[in-house]
Amino acid sequence: MPALYAVRTYGCQMNVHDTEKVANLLHHAGFRPATDESEADLLLINTCSIREKAENRLYSDLGALREWKAAVPGRVLGVGGCVAQQEGDRVLRRFSHLDFVFGTHNLRLVPDMVEAAGLGERQTMTDEHRSLDRFDLPERHEAFAGTTPGRAFLTVMEGCDMFCTFCIVPRTRGREISRPAAGILGEARALAERGVREVTLLGQTVNAYGRHDLKRGRDAEAGTMAFGALLGELAATPGIERIRYTSPHPLFFDDALIQAHAAIPEVCPHVHLPLQSGSDRVLAAMRRRYTAAEYLAIVERLKRARPDIAITTDVIVGFPGETRADFEDTLAVMEAVEFADSYSFKYSPRPETAAAEMGGQIDPVEAQDRLATLQDLQRGLKLAGNRRCVGTETTILVEGQSARSAGADSAQQLRGRDPYHRVVNFTLPGELPAPAAGTLLELRIVEATPHSLIGERTEDRPGVKDPLRLVDGTTPASRESELPVS
Ligand code: 5AD
Ligand code: SF4
Repeated sequence: MPALYAVRTYGCQMNVHDTEKVANLLHHAGFRPATDESEADLLLINTCSIREKAENRLYSDLGALREWKAAVPGRVLGVGGCVAQQEGDRVLRRFSHLDFVFGTHNLRLVPDMVEAAGLGERQTMTDEHRSLDRFDLPERHEAFAGTTPGRAFLTVMEGCDMFCTFCIVPRTRGREISRPAAGILGEARALAERGVREVTLLGQTVNAYGRHDLKRGRDAEAGTMAFGALLGELAATPGIERIRYTSPHPLFFDDALIQAHAAIPEVCPHVHLPLQSGSDRVLAAMRRRYTAAEYLAIVERLKRARPDIAITTDVIVGFPGETRADFEDTLAVMEAVEFADSYSFKYSPRPETAAAEMGGQIDPVEAQDRLATLQDLQRGLKLAGNRRCVGTETTILVEGQSARSAGADSAQQLRGRDPYHRVVNFTLPGELPAPAAGTLLELRIVEATPHSLIGERTEDRPGVKDPLRLVDGTTPASRESELPVS
């Protein structure tokens, strides 16, 4: 019987995709996913350290896992991700039941580390590698065709050279490195052949893709190109119908990228563009390298290129020295942009970052108050945006059952995402087969809720029982089970 593994994944999409990469390596090494941690022989924790709370999560998990490890002799426990990179050997020394620690550049070593653990060896591997071979992973195992049916992440660059003063990522993910386009395009073709319709390009500063090579005039040699050009090449991949990317940095949002939104139909009309703050003083202290006016100018150009574009963002409140007036500047930018959605956070000091040493740390109660005010404003903006969709027709990529339909009696409650990345829930008449996850389907938006939209088939009228109208001409099939990431 093959050994069984499970992975707990915390943090961003990059981590989710790293877990997929590790799972793929383990599959090639003969492991299979456990249905539950209680039956796993190997348990990995893929950690996040973006804020202190995320980091603390690891320590409480590890404490609780002593029992898991002791329950069955031979069980192996490993820790990877950003906390592993940041803390390295310290985690191994602190938790005697932990077998190995692997950094963000060492995914490929995991199968070997598991084997060594079986022989009683405890080790930490957190060396940063600057070579391109980190992108040379085996092709996705066929068991992964359906990890997220119809959709897939695709790494285009890794690392970050920006060193925003609040952010630990340059320390946990290392220096910026862009993957040669041939590998990216080859992976996109392989994914499309397996039925992937939507790719999300990943990179810490994804639109900085190729910039170092271009600046040094060695892009041809490195096999990279400008990010806008890469989007054009990817859009030409047969079968790829939607392209998303995350997260761009405003500094690298050039005309070619804006034009890509106007000219390339496959590029989704959605941009997640982190703002962080609307105050120039705070932006300078964060070392973000743009002003609020420059950010607004990008939004303006995007809206001119693609008037229906949805813009989402990340915001930090309570950065050291942020005054009430600075905070109000942030609210003003949010209202001006009318963000479709935002992720907002209280500033959290991170080890070895410049901001952690700054004076003027904000009282946590005040920071909480600002967060609540900002989230209130965003709720209103989101609902207003959702209401503007009512009556429109859209195409959604079916993801599976909606959160509301966990019960057996409502099996036809489905969810998907529109091109703007909004969640659309819809119900199909019970007698129709459910469309497979990964199918593109046309719907009319009939209702807006604070968090999502409600759609219905354009032809769903009482008494009408015609087959599903699928945009891509595939036959309706009963929903395939979604393989969990871990
Ligand atoms: N404190 C709070 N939020 C942070 N982020 C990054 N570092 C910190 C920090 N130290 C937020 C930023 C970033 C998002 C992924 O997390 O908004 O865009
Ligand atoms: Fe962190 Fe700034 Fe790099 Fe984004 S651009 S990962 S916020 S340092």
